[in-house]
Formats: sequence, C-alpha cells, structure tokens
Amino acid sequence: MSELQDKINKRRTFAIISHPDAGKTTLTEKLLLYGGAIHLAGSVKSRKTNRHAVSDWMEIEKQRGISVTSSVLQFDYDGYRVNILDTPGHQDFSEDTYRTLIAADSAVMLIDAAKGVEPQTKKLFWVCHRRKLPIFTFVNKLDRYGRAPMDLMDEIEKILHINAFPINWPIGVDGHYIGVYDRIKKQVELFDNDNSHGSKILKSTTGDLNDPAIKDAIGEANYQTLLDDIELLDLAGDEFDLQKVLDGELTPMFFGSAMTNFGVRPFLEKFLELSPAPQPRKLKDGSVVLPDNENFSAFIFKIQANMNPAHRDRISFMRICSGKFEKGMSVWHLQGNHPVKLSQPQQFMAQERTTVETAYPGDIIGVFDPGIFTIGDTLTTEKNKIQFEDFPIFPPEIFAKVQPKDSLKRKQFEKGIVQLAQEGAIQVFRQKNIGMESFVVGVVGILQLEVLDYRLKNEYSAQLLMDRLPYSVARWVYADDAEAIRNMKGLDNGMLVYDKLGRPVVLVSNEWNLNWLLERNPGINFTEVPSEARAI
Ligand code: G4P
Repeated sequence: MSELQDKINKRRTFAIISHPDAGKTTLTEKLLLYGGAIHLAGSVKSRKTNRHAVSDWMEIEKQRGISVTSSVLQFDYDGYRVNILDTPGHQDFSEDTYRTLIAADSAVMLIDAAKGVEPQTKKLFWVCHRRKLPIFTFVNKLDRYGRAPMDLMDEIEKILHINAFPINWPIGVDGHYIGVYDRIKKQVELFDNDNSHGSKILKSTTGDLNDPAIKDAIGEANYQTLLDDIELLDLAGDEFDLQKVLDGELTPMFFGSAMTNFGVRPFLEKFLELSPAPQPRKLKDGSVVLPDNENFSAFIFKIQANMNPAHRDRISFMRICSGKFEKGMSVWHLQGNHPVKLSQPQQFMAQERTTVETAYPGDIIGVFDPGIFTIGDTLTTEKNKIQFEDFPIFPPEIFAKVQPKDSLKRKQFEKGIVQLAQEGAIQVFRQKNIGMESFVVGVVGILQLEVLDYRLKNEYSAQLLMDRLPYSVARWVYADDAEAIRNMKGLDNGMLVYDKLGRPVVLVSNEWNLNWLLERNPGINFTEVPSEARAI
C-alpha cells in the first residue's frame, strides 16, 4: 500500500451535530482525553455567562489553558488520526455551521437522553442526510434520569426517518446504568464507579454475557431485562448493514455519558472502525477526485477573520481532498487564476496551533489569507484541471435592513459589506436593482448580524443602523417577463429585493404568505435557492 493510501485509511474527519446543551463541548473534551491530547478533563464551568460570540472550543481553551482556536481539533487514537470539525451551536449557529458539514466525511449526532430529538438536531441532521453523510448517534447523559432507550430509538426513526441500529445497549435501570452490551461483539462492558467525576479515563470490565461472574455483577433483574431487550432488538430491529451506514440510511446508535465517561471509549473505538475514511469529492464537471490521487487538491470551506483581534488576521481553512500537502508548496488558486505559496500553514492540534509540515486528505489546514480566497475556492497542483463543485447556498431566514449611521462613512460601510459577503459571513440583497442606497442582509443565525455589526465597527470604522425585518422566507423568482415580477400580485406583506447578481428575490414572513403569492402569480416560479445553484 502506498504511503498516501495508508494515511488516508487511518484518517477520520467528522463533525458533532446537536442541539445546544446536549453535551457537545463535554464529549469533545472527553474524546481529547481518551486520545491523550489532554490529561485531565474538568467540567467546563461558567461558560454560560461568557459564551457569546466565541465558539465553545474557545471556551475550553480559556478554561484549560490550551489553544484550540478554532476550526478543527486533531488527535491520534489507536493509529487513527482524528479530525473533529467545530460546528458551533446555539447563538453561534450560522452558515458556517452548515458549511463545515461539507468538509466532513461523517457526523456524530448527539442526543440528550432526557430530551430526545430537538429542533436544532433536526435541522443539522437534514443537512447531513441530504448530503448522504453517514450519521452516528450518541445518546448522552445516561448518568441521570432520561427516557427509555427503546423510546429514543423509536423517536429517531419516526422524526428523522432513518433506521437506527443500537450497537450497544445500556445495562441497568434508568439513572443507574452500570454498563453496555455490545451487540456486535456480543460482549458486556461494566464500568467502574470512580470518583474522578469524569476527569480521568473510566475503568471497565469486559466479559461474555454467559460468564457467571458477569451475570453476577449485573444482578438477576437487570440481567433478565437485558436478555429481553436483546431479544426484542434482534427480532424487531434492522440487520446491521455497514453499507447502509455508509450510504447514510442507517444510524448506528450508542449510549453513554460524556460527563462520567460511561460508554465513551466503546463509542470512540467503534466509531473509528465503522466510519468512513476521507471520501472522493465531487467536481463541477460531475466527476470526482479520489483521495489517493497523487496531485494535491483542497477547497476552502471557512474563512475566519479576526481570530486574534490584536493581529487582525484572516485565516482561510481548507479541507485537503487528494494528494500530500507539504509546507511551502506552490498550488494553483483556480478562482484567482494565480499560483499561491502555502508557506505558513497552521494546524490546530489539541494542545497548540502548530505549523504543518505535511498533511493528507481529510486534514484541515488554515492559511493566512490577505483577502484572496472565497468560500468554495479550489486549490490544486493540477493547474486548471479540476474545480470542486460550487458550495451550496443556504436559504437565509433572518433579514435586516442596514445603513451607515454616519453617511460620511458610506464608502467604508459599502466596502465592509461587500467583503463580508465575499467571506460568506452574510448574504447581501439590494432593494432596487441599481445603486447601493440600502442593503438588506440575510443570514441563517442571529449571531451573524451581531458579528456584522461588530466587524463593521471594528474593522471598517462604520457604525451601523440595523432594522430587523419581519421576514423569514426568501424565494428567488423567475418569470419569462421581467415586468410580471415587478408587478407581482399579493406582495403587500413582503419585499422584492435583488441578490448580488441582480436576481430578483422575494422576502415574506412565513409559508402562509408564500402560498398566498404562489396562488396569485401562476406565471412566476419561486425557488428556495437560485435555480442555477444547488440547495443544501
Ligand atoms: P453543548 O456544548 O452541547 O452546548 O453542551 P455542554 O457540553 O456545554 O453541556 C451542557 C450541560 O450539560 C453542561 O451542564 C454539562 O456539564 C452537561 N452535560 C454534558 N454531558 C453530560 C452528561 O453526560 N451527563 C450530565 N448529567 N450532564 C452532562 P451545565 O450545568 O450547563 O454546566 P456545568 O456547570 O455542569 O459545567
């Protein structure tokens, strides 16, 4: 096997998707603990007060004194090189979250055992599912009272329309689980009670289901319940089919507690075994680039400015899709029609930000960007031979009208708006198809508006006047006759704007208003994203 193939086989690049508070930060920290990247995990306290415009990981950084800024965490486990992509949740929810999923080869869906499938889990799940990303489910917080495992499994299947296959099954009673049964190995793992509160790796005993010592340790009643559960799962459930997992049609399910470490190691090991190595990536011409193609290729999926306000740096993150990366290599920047030397590539090991010497498909590296890259750009050593498919556009749901507070600052204001749109921080619309008199910005998360406000003030010295608009639905509109669009009927409660390419878009409050428009304008086509772009 070639060196490249070997590196590819051992890489796993994934994102954790969840609703706020399901335990993503805690689980991430525990994966680092098991990977040996940190030595003592502690409960990450007092985040709540401070968790505003910073990612959860920056909080870990503050608490632990480790540098994890920001897009990816990397650690080694059992010969694997693991890349966890940061998908900020709650207030941090933004287009970045969606885009990050495009750089992943699989996702871990984290569910709070007491709450089940929550709204944001659902949203993120659908983005992954539409992309046919393999999704692994980790039911968290098993150390305290929650819903019955069968119930949760049922809910996932019903609400998310995906079959679930529990790989392991909790043993014991709600709130007092003592171990898990591995349905593939047909083995029991019982966890020690320790008093480290999850700060250390949790010890466990593994044994056969029929081993009298194991039977004894489980206790008669729990043992019988376990046998009944296994029987029910085997009878009523799906067969385990790895291909279905890889096709995103079956989600392997695990149970545990990120807080106490219960079930964390069995999850991690099985996940690494079953999850896909870096996958081929689609190109604009419909073909794919295989990871073991010796020519280097990567795409930019995230641009982060001001990671360090003192330095005003802007870092573009790329996901490597094929070939070997070597520090200082020269690559062709397709969209810029220019060669670029990647001389100061950064990688974000759990402990520190380091300069990368070499990297392989699946790895993420950040490069200092003087403002030349845009989301979705292709970098390759094969000049003009390949171009990755365009990044999907995410329909914005939150809109605001913005203008400069001080009209003398209009120039800075416009420059800032245009640049932030280019970075993918916001989507910009104009009210008329001419001039720049006022902008409407569209975003998917409220934080994006706060970031816009902050960055225009700090980077472009332009204070904003921002009025939230009462719309939550955008539709690109098409008609043979432009006049029909201008004279659209029933738009009294909506707004007609134009995107950066001058394409008309209507903004309305809700689906009801949208239907009203559809009924009154049979000659007009309404699309969720521009018809020439791909939806998520
Ligand atoms: P998030 O990143 O998904 O938003 O979740 P985070 O890890 O911050 O966890 C949210 C809350 O849930 C935290 O409690 C955390 O301690 C708790 N938690 C995470 N995993 C588990 C688990 O397995 N069991 C239990 N019982 N709790 C868990 P908090 O009260 O907000 O903060 P803290 O004071 O405990 O740090």
